[in-house]
Amino acid sequence: MDTATAPRALFESSGVKALLDQLDAELIGLAPVKGRIRDIAALLLIDKLREEQGLQSTPPSLHMCFTGNPGTGKTTVAMRMAGVLKQLGYVRKGHLVAVTRDDLVGQFIGHTAPKTKEVIKKAMGGVLFIDEAYYLYRPENERDYGQESIEILLQVMENQRDDLVVILAGYKDRMDTFFGSNPGMASRIAHHIDFPDYSEAELMQIAELMLQGLNYRFDGPAAHAFGRYLHLRRQQPHFANARSVRNALDRMRLRHATRLFDSQSALSKEQLCTLQAEDVLASRVFGMAPSAPVLQEVTR
Ligand SMILES: Nc1ncnc2c1ncn2[C@@H]1O[C@H](COP(=O)(O)OP(=O)(O)OP(=O)(O)O)[C@@H](O)[C@H]1O
Ligand SMILES: [Mg+2]
Repeated sequence: MDTATAPRALFESSGVKALLDQLDAELIGLAPVKGRIRDIAALLLIDKLREEQGLQSTPPSLHMCFTGNPGTGKTTVAMRMAGVLKQLGYVRKGHLVAVTRDDLVGQFIGHTAPKTKEVIKKAMGGVLFIDEAYYLYRPENERDYGQESIEILLQVMENQRDDLVVILAGYKDRMDTFFGSNPGMASRIAHHIDFPDYSEAELMQIAELMLQGLNYRFDGPAAHAFGRYLHLRRQQPHFANARSVRNALDRMRLRHATRLFDSQSALSKEQLCTLQAEDVLASRVFGMAPSAPVLQEVTR
């Protein structure tokens, strides 16, 4: 009599299917990214079933690198990834600790090791997300303390990989250069996932999803105007994909509020929720040449 669990049953009972379905519904596009996450979930799940059958195995290495332009969803997906890893019992807690160079590297001799170790301690049992990881390596400065931090990370990535997953993130070309000069790091990263820029249609869907979450909506002309906004904004400097969409929506809500503020009569629920074309069209984006420097957008 075969008492082995079917993968499909474990996929559902572990809650991983629910997590992946949620990821699918709440994140627009990103098909290749979602596919890769599903693959990693499958790997862990099969590993669990192998363990159930008494098959010896060392836990797979799950350190990853997420490359892509600003606002393509890297931090968001890393957070979801942490949840999946927890659900599959790969890490104990499933939290995400997001850091940059300044959180890991000290200014003075002797400061870097304790700083890096403190961060690692906080991240144990979850995911350590290092944004713009290439700043850890500064070849132009011979005695840069970043190297010390990298070495500590390398050790932990090797020795404690069953309870800590490190995700490095940043622009693709800079990440490639970083790996080129840090083969130790390159060899410890098992999964490289590239986040593509969103299409105009995807950005529109992202906007609608965000508005829905905020209890706002575009009326017909506003939706049309926002389509034009996206077309123009995408060609301007400092465009940051979904993050720019979120920022644009914030400014539109501000204009909507200012417009309603002068009203003498009571406002209907409909009015309170509906963004109109003028809330969109007042944007400076419409008055600019594609190459003109645009308002310095906060990109994080
Ligand atoms: N595919 C998507 N669907 C819906 N919302 C998204 C999607 N991608 C990103 N967002 C939203 O856009 C914002 C920016 O995403 P996130 O911070 O994950 O991007 P990032 O790649 O980490 O950017 P950065 O490189 O600037 O740190 C978040 O509010 C996130 O919820
Ligand atoms: Mg981010």
